[in-house]
Amino acid sequence: MLALPEHAQLRQELEPWTNQFGYTVQYVFKVLQDAEAGHDWHHVQRVYDNTLQILEQEALNQRLPEGTTALAIWGALLHDIADDKFHPDPNSSARQGLENHLRELAFPEGMRDEVLYLIEWVSFKKSFDAKAGSEEEQPEHKIKALHILRDADRLDAIGAIGLARAFHYGGFKNRLFFDSTIPPVHYQNGEAYRKSTAPTINHFYEKLLLLKKKMYTPSGRELAEQRHSFLLAFLKQYYSEMGFQSPPPGFELEVFE
Ligand code: ADP
Ligand code: NI
Repeated sequence: MLALPEHAQLRQELEPWTNQFGYTVQYVFKVLQDAEAGHDWHHVQRVYDNTLQILEQEALNQRLPEGTTALAIWGALLHDIADDKFHPDPNSSARQGLENHLRELAFPEGMRDEVLYLIEWVSFKKSFDAKAGSEEEQPEHKIKALHILRDADRLDAIGAIGLARAFHYGGFKNRLFFDSTIPPVHYQNGEAYRKSTAPTINHFYEKLLLLKKKMYTPSGRELAEQRHSFLLAFLKQYYSEMGFQSPPPGFELEVFE
């Protein structure tokens, strides 16, 4: 169902956890069966593929800090199991299920905590509270894995797939497509970002168009480039079909070109 790494270092690092890998894949597949289509098993598969692609590329350029591979992979597989958008209670049954699953894997305790750290910090909402993540105090492999996973997850938020996901989520939340009288805003913190009920096109300005500049890895940046251009082309077409000569006030695109 999921490809395995080709690069020798990655294969070697995953080797001791082969059984756990299959077990987690089955668990995620089952838990996400009825999930919203933008955050379901198919999203996990795509994020896993992106993660692997970035890991392989990074491993060609430099030796990855030991422990990066397994951490990034389990982060990719488990990152949306207890997403606070769908499970706001920090003690939700989804969260408890996730913690139980991690215990069942019999990972060393440190590794379990590292996976939970990645899951907590991968989200865009968290980047508003970035200081609290105090990345400098974390070991190198943990930060490397977090950066790779963030890139992998964010790539799925842009391009054609990102666009489909945004409108699907907007529909799921019964949001308007667009309202030229409700301009995008800059949120001051993660809570305000999460509480927004703005039209879906605002989400492009409030998150999706910001991602290209926030990529961490060279391969992430490269993959983001074309997907970003596609979002710009889509918005221009949308405004044109709405009869606007150029983006309406508050929806300008120059800064994102
Ligand atoms: P995170 O879960 O990383 O904090 P988001 O809340 O932005 O990130 O959610 C991830 C994806 O869910 C987005 O990339 C987008 O596809 C969709 N999504 C979230 N909020 C919105 C929104 N207000 N409008 C449209 N899509 C959204
Ligand atoms: Ni995700």
